[in-house]
Amino acid sequence: MAAWEVQLRPGRDDYPQVKRGSAAAPEPILAARGITKRFPGVLALDDVDLDVYPGEIHAVLGQNGAGKTTLMNILFGLVQPDEGTLEVFGRRVRFRSPHDALTHGIGMVHQTRRLVSAHTVLENIVLGHPRVRGVLNLRAARTEVETLGNRYGFTVDLGARVWQLSEGERQWVEILKALYRGARILILDEPTSALTPPEVKTLLAGLQGLVRGQGITVILVTHKLPIVMSASHRVTVLRSGKVVVRLKTAEATEEILVHHMVGRDVAFRSTDRALPGGRPLLEAEQLAAFNDKGLLALRGVSFSLREGEVLGVAGVTGNGQEELAQVLAGLRPAASGSVRFDGQDITRLSPLQRWQLGIGYVPAERSEVASIAAFSLVENTTLNYHFDPAFTRRGVLDDAGLERLTQRILSAY
Ligand SMILES: Nc1ncnc2c1ncn2[C@@H]1O[C@H](COP(=O)(O)OP(=O)(O)OP(=O)(O)O)[C@@H](O)[C@H]1O
Ligand SMILES: [Mg+2]
Repeated sequence: MAAWEVQLRPGRDDYPQVKRGSAAAPEPILAARGITKRFPGVLALDDVDLDVYPGEIHAVLGQNGAGKTTLMNILFGLVQPDEGTLEVFGRRVRFRSPHDALTHGIGMVHQTRRLVSAHTVLENIVLGHPRVRGVLNLRAARTEVETLGNRYGFTVDLGARVWQLSEGERQWVEILKALYRGARILILDEPTSALTPPEVKTLLAGLQGLVRGQGITVILVTHKLPIVMSASHRVTVLRSGKVVVRLKTAEATEEILVHHMVGRDVAFRSTDRALPGGRPLLEAEQLAAFNDKGLLALRGVSFSLREGEVLGVAGVTGNGQEELAQVLAGLRPAASGSVRFDGQDITRLSPLQRWQLGIGYVPAERSEVASIAAFSLVENTTLNYHFDPAFTRRGVLDDAGLERLTQRILSAY
């Protein structure tokens, strides 16, 4: 629950600060009114209003599942609202597809990157452009993209392949791609999650350049308070699909924002740091493991985790965290070293054997790796218990028992 506890502290004063002049902004450039969206069993958005003014960086803040992405997908024509209206540049619009949104000057950089790694930067920018039909004139496109890059002050090697770029550079490719399609309003959904702190600074400074110098308006979706505080002019906070507050950032504090975000005051130093002092439960000894490219991703990792403890593993994405979690879960072999659980050597045990010992694993990519979206909750639960004699009778699954188990899990957690 305390994800922002960590994000609050490091270098909050380091981020480039936006200029918050008293830019009188009479009319919103984008106005959403009464947007409601239901998914089966979930009211993702409930009568949401959003006003974005020209030339501002507008932060949309909310916890996981608050409805931020759904709202952005509606503004970008990817999702149709059940109710509500949109006005863009003073005109009532209805987007049936992202193509419609782009025609009205709205571009989006998605929460998950959507570039083709094996293609060059230029190919990625040009790919799928509505004007590109039939024969592709890459040379003409290159000149256009270069001019655009110069105008916006980007320096990305257009000939580089996307897999060669850092996350920060990939982000710029996505932004350039949106601008190349004529975006005047740029939606960025959680753009900083995979970036290093210096890359975050570069991104924020770049966005400020876009709004100040180029008349671009930015909607910045995030759940990171320091970013909202330093980089936005205005903020709309969503909680459980509802707008709970709209503020000028200059009038907000992190405490106010977090209060609205979670619906109560949050004590920032609430974790009881006294060590629980239980017995060591999970011990890693000189672990080494290779990543998918065959490179050594873990070298000599050792730790001891006691009963009741929370161990934080920090690092920029791609520095071995994922491999470590996989080795602990049994999904990736340890090249050397050992893992002990409750005194037992489990280094060679399968994921199933570890699960039966009581080790659960929630991967970062939950929707791709750990669950099947088209399955019901009961069916997803079944994936973990279909081998359990308690839930099978002569090889036939005990559906009623599994449903009761799912209910028990739901009410317990
Ligand atoms: N296609 C879908 N089908 C069913 N439910 C969905 C779908 N998309 C989103 N939801 C649900 O709608 C709610 C809002 O989700 P959304 O992704 O918009 O939240 P978010 O604020 O972007 O969260 P995060 O910070 O995790 O990105 C969640 O309960 C989510 O499970
Ligand atoms: Mg989201």
